[in-house]
Amino acid sequence: MKPFIVVSDGFDAPLFEELKKCDALEVHPKSKVTQDELKTLLPKINGLIIRSATKVDAALLELAPNLKLVIRAGEGTDNIDKVACAAKGVKVANTPGANSNSAAEHAIAIMFTLLRKTAWAHASTKAGKWEKSAFEGNEVWKKKIGFVGFGKIGQIVAKRLSGFEPEVFFYDPMIETSPLGKKAADMKEIFSKCDIITMHLPLIPATKGIVNKDLLGLMKKDAVLINASRGGIVNEDDLYTILKEKKILGAAFDVFADEPLKAESKLFELDNLVMTPHLGASTGEAQYRAGEMAVHQIKEFFLNNNMMNEVKAK
Ligand SMILES: NC(=O)c1ccc[n+]([C@@H]2O[C@H](COP(=O)([O-])OP(=O)(O)OC[C@H]3O[C@@H](n4cnc5c(N)ncnc54)[C@H](O)[C@@H]3O)[C@@H](O)[C@H]2O)c1
Repeated sequence: MKPFIVVSDGFDAPLFEELKKCDALEVHPKSKVTQDELKTLLPKINGLIIRSATKVDAALLELAPNLKLVIRAGEGTDNIDKVACAAKGVKVANTPGANSNSAAEHAIAIMFTLLRKTAWAHASTKAGKWEKSAFEGNEVWKKKIGFVGFGKIGQIVAKRLSGFEPEVFFYDPMIETSPLGKKAADMKEIFSKCDIITMHLPLIPATKGIVNKDLLGLMKKDAVLINASRGGIVNEDDLYTILKEKKILGAAFDVFADEPLKAESKLFELDNLVMTPHLGASTGEAQYRAGEMAVHQIKEFFLNNNMMNEVKAK
């Protein structure tokens, strides 16, 4: 019997056609299925490719006794209960790095949106106004840019911004030196010294709420804070206060502690906060790369017994 593969959360159409052409696999003909459809397919599934919509939890696994591999076409595996998977002998993989460039470009996009006030200027101009003086902005050229977390995405941001001739500082416990910038002694140095501070670290117990009123209070009055990494790293109550009191120039966030943001969130009140709905990986290019890796990995697993990019329960 051929391994039965289901792609549940949508896929690039040409890539899906390529997957279906693989004679050694039986691929469910739809690349997006409803939760009810998925339930009916689960007893037979051997390989499942998901994005962020499908939640692989104990209840799903209970209905999928033949499941061997779940691949998250993307990076974050928060929607997969890896402990429950391990208990059932189900392997989990992701596609690391597929969306790093897109996430880096989005951090830069919201940085410029904030500094040049383009989102607010666009809304005003569309409303028929011509408010030139209301939207005076600031440059990036030769600014001090501070990176908290200097892994894959942080370093791409630094490389892409190098044309703006910034003075780059980074704080990352795992990185001692880099040709891209100077290591700061601690986060306090980054927050007190830099004009633009950009977060590129994971949300783990040690980083939850790590940016709080103490660090935010060190920022210069004309400094800005960018977060396109993970919500919850910055304490949002403290962020709200510092922005409301105009203690810094502004902030641009793609990620929030509780997503999607609730309608009653007080962050909506702020006129110096740029917000986007977790769009970092949302480009055609990133989705394609993640899909391409997922197709390769599922073939390697079922046809060559080769487990790639495994994500284990911590
Ligand atoms: N907005 C989006 O849609 C989007 C897309 C992709 C990735 N991300 C997020 O971006 C972040 C960075 O991703 P990456 O691929 O560069 O990860 P990475 O693992 O390559 O780099 C993260 C770096 O953070 C460092 N770090 C860990 N704890 C730290 C601390 N307390 N202080 C300072 N640095 C610390 C690590 O040493 C590491 O070098 C992750 O949180 C990831 O989930 C967001």
